[in-house]
Amino acid sequence: MRGGWAGQLSSFGKDSKVLQQKIKPGTTRRTLAVAAPHSAMLLLFLVVVIASASISIANPLIYREIINEGILKQNVPFIVRLALMIAGLGVLEAALGLLLTYMATHIGAAVVLSLRTRLFEHVQGMPLAFFSRTQTGALVNRLVTDTGGARTAFTDVLSNVAGNAVTVALVVAAMIALSWRITLIVLVLLPLFVLPARYWGRRIQAVTRELYDVGAAMSSVMVERFNVAGALLAKLFGRPAEDVRTFEGKAAQLSQAGVKAALYGRMFGTMLLLMASFATALAYGWGGVLAARHALDLGTVVALVSLLARLYAPLTGLSNVQVTIMTALVSFERVFEVMDLTPMIQEKAHATALASGPMRLAFEHVAFRYPSAAEVSLASLESIAVPEKRAPRTVLHDVDFVAEPGQLVALVGPSGAGKTTISQLIPRLYDVQSGAIRINGVDVRDTTLQSLRDRIGVVTQDAHLFHDTIRANLLYARPDATDEQIRSALRDAQILELVDSLPDGLDTMVGERGYRFSGGEKQRLAIARLLLKAPDLVVLDEATAHLDSTSEAAVQQALERALTGRTAIVIAHRLSTVLKADQILVVQEGRIVQRGTHERLSAVPGLYAQLYQRQFLAQEAAQTGS
Ligand SMILES: Nc1ncnc2c1ncn2[C@@H]1O[C@H](COP(=O)(O)OP(=O)(O)OP(=O)(O)O)[C@@H](O)[C@H]1O
Ligand SMILES: [Mg+2]
Repeated sequence: MRGGWAGQLSSFGKDSKVLQQKIKPGTTRRTLAVAAPHSAMLLLFLVVVIASASISIANPLIYREIINEGILKQNVPFIVRLALMIAGLGVLEAALGLLLTYMATHIGAAVVLSLRTRLFEHVQGMPLAFFSRTQTGALVNRLVTDTGGARTAFTDVLSNVAGNAVTVALVVAAMIALSWRITLIVLVLLPLFVLPARYWGRRIQAVTRELYDVGAAMSSVMVERFNVAGALLAKLFGRPAEDVRTFEGKAAQLSQAGVKAALYGRMFGTMLLLMASFATALAYGWGGVLAARHALDLGTVVALVSLLARLYAPLTGLSNVQVTIMTALVSFERVFEVMDLTPMIQEKAHATALASGPMRLAFEHVAFRYPSAAEVSLASLESIAVPEKRAPRTVLHDVDFVAEPGQLVALVGPSGAGKTTISQLIPRLYDVQSGAIRINGVDVRDTTLQSLRDRIGVVTQDAHLFHDTIRANLLYARPDATDEQIRSALRDAQILELVDSLPDGLDTMVGERGYRFSGGEKQRLAIARLLLKAPDLVVLDEATAHLDSTSEAAVQQALERALTGRTAIVIAHRLSTVLKADQILVVQEGRIVQRGTHERLSAVPGLYAQLYQRQFLAQEAAQTGS
């Protein structure tokens, strides 16, 4: 509020490029809508702003009374009373200043909180296709930096723009009331003072940008060289002397920019001081002449000068008002942009809940291709979307099969055939282009997403664990599970012994992405998570990585537990799975090229026989050999 130099300088640091940006129509209206729930607080804010500005013009008027009515008429009690009043008003002004800062930041914080939460919820509702196409870092940036920027901008607009505008208006009104002639002259001269300040403000802006750029360049040199991979490369191939020179160059640039920034800041302050001195000289000079000629009283001259002094800071603050407002709008626009993406996979208005119980899964002539960026409605988000390299091609053609309740259907086929894709269509991570997927006769697109995903349990190729405790990871599947149920699931997944042997047991942190566990252990934890959920339909993408034989046997047992009594679609990489399967589907280039049991398929020449020879027989040899 009525900022002072420091406030001015920081607002000049903002990027003036925002002024060249085109803001989408409607952004202003929507930004106001975001603020609408806080309108009571905003109104109160305005009232306090006016009160605070009134105090700042009250002081000069009191000086006037002290001189005219007190000093010149030698009324001592009156002087003392007014002096006490000045002190009292000072305290009040300080308190109101604090209140204003509190209110502006409070409103800003409330706005950012609701924006962030809504954005998180919205992004979470986006289909998988969205996440496979966005750059996570850039997306997170929108949630953190842009919503944060929106808050700063909001607070800035409130305190700088609203606060300063009210102050300037009141001060000028008071000056006109005191002497419109002097006010007019001073106001006519004002551009003369404001323009140099603006000039230096722009240079500060430029040098601040330079500081950011050079600073970023210097850090990226450090990050490149100091991460493990970079450090290794530098040690094995590097020329340290050259690296030091590069770094020194960047660091020197940064120092120079720093010196410039300090100098420009000082220049800006000096301009303000000069401006203040000239205006004071003018007011005292001309006002003094008028007072000497008895055209104006002494108190009024002093009051005018004092009012004038309260004009500079708010006025220079307002000289940058476009940048402040545009920065606010740009931040909000970037947040709205993400908010406007419509999720491709949505629940129908009259979706039915999928009942639990035995499940019959049917693929009916399913054709599928992965959606393009435009369909994921990411086209407008070029900065965070992964660019399109080629047009999407059809990945699945006429996939048609039935898994009866309790049956185990195995999908086998070469890498890239479309097996994982088939499995992802069942819980509706993607929607089919034509044909349908039905569970107990109901198209999955007609069910509620919640019930669909509750009834289906999936273990993916590389089981993911959150960076949290084992217990929290398991509870994610079923928040109300008791410790006993968790332990029983772990026991069935053949991992309880290991968990119990850890010093912290269930409270052991699994480490970033589960790196603290081996591949086989992680898989068994994922299976325990699935067992806890107790789904009716299991979709399993077996790990391709070969496990050692003890681990393999443990995973095997765990899987057996997970599959019994449930309809299961398993992407099989293990011989034991295909041997057990009620039906094997051989997938090649998105088509089911062979189907049947192991006995039937291995007896006829074809892709399955080849796969069996190459992949599964080797496993058998390894297992019998060990
Ligand atoms: N998110 C995606 N966007 C676009 N194309 C994809 C995507 N995921 C997979 N594909 C393509 O779809 C085809 C089928 O992939 P899929 O992952 O289903 O193969 P897979 O049979 O599971 O192979 P693997 O045995 O190696 O796991 C591949 O050509 C792949 O390039
Ligand atoms: Mg796969």
